[in-house]
Amino acid sequence: MIVEKRTLMQGPFFKELMVVDSLGFRIGLDLIFLSRVEELYNRHSTNFLQRFFTEDEIKYCFKSPIFQKQIECMGGFIAAKEAVMKVLGEGWPRIPWTDIEVIHDERNRPFVALKGEGLLHMEQNNFESVQISITHDELIAAAVAIGIPGKF
Ligand SMILES: CC(C)(COP(=O)(O)OP(=O)(O)OC[C@H]1O[C@@H](n2cnc3c(N)ncnc32)[C@H](O)[C@@H]1OP(=O)(O)O)[C@@H](O)C(=O)NCCC(=O)NCCS
Repeated sequence: MIVEKRTLMQGPFFKELMVVDSLGFRIGLDLIFLSRVEELYNRHSTNFLQRFFTEDEIKYCFKSPIFQKQIECMGGFIAAKEAVMKVLGEGWPRIPWTDIEVIHDERNRPFVALKGEGLLHMEQNNFESVQISITHDELIAAAVAIGIPGKF
């Protein structure tokens, strides 16, 4: 919905500026270099896993016996959690990493399950849910998240 329309003159150009209501949707984006994930995992292994991931997330990433795949999976989850934090407008340490859990349906499509501070911030922002999409290759993982507004 366009809530305001203004015409600005910039140099020789007229520019139409439209202030658009976001209708309550909000997006978040994040990327992470997998070398950083590998370094954290090699340096802190158990502490790193417990701080960032839930038990089910750890099981999911370690389903593959291939180290590179495990790191890509963990990188994707961290990027997803940071993208969700941006949607919620608040990051770590206010929202613990494990309050945002990445889960999958039977076709491997990722979703987020929020609890504790994550859930609280979702409700405070009037989101009905937060949807995510994750990508990774051998160097980088990235994710985008979108907050879906609830009914007013
Ligand atoms: C909100 C949060 C998730 C942002 O993470 P970040 O790593 O600092 O952010 P990025 O470098 O990916 O992106 C920075 C951009 O995020 C946006 N941003 C900053 N705070 C934000 C907030 N509260 N809500 C939404 N977006 C925000 C800004 O556009 C910022 O760009 P700018 O600094 O040029 O203005 C952050 O508060 C947080 O908790 N970071 C955790 C950092 C960490 O421990 N990472 C370890 C990974 S191994």
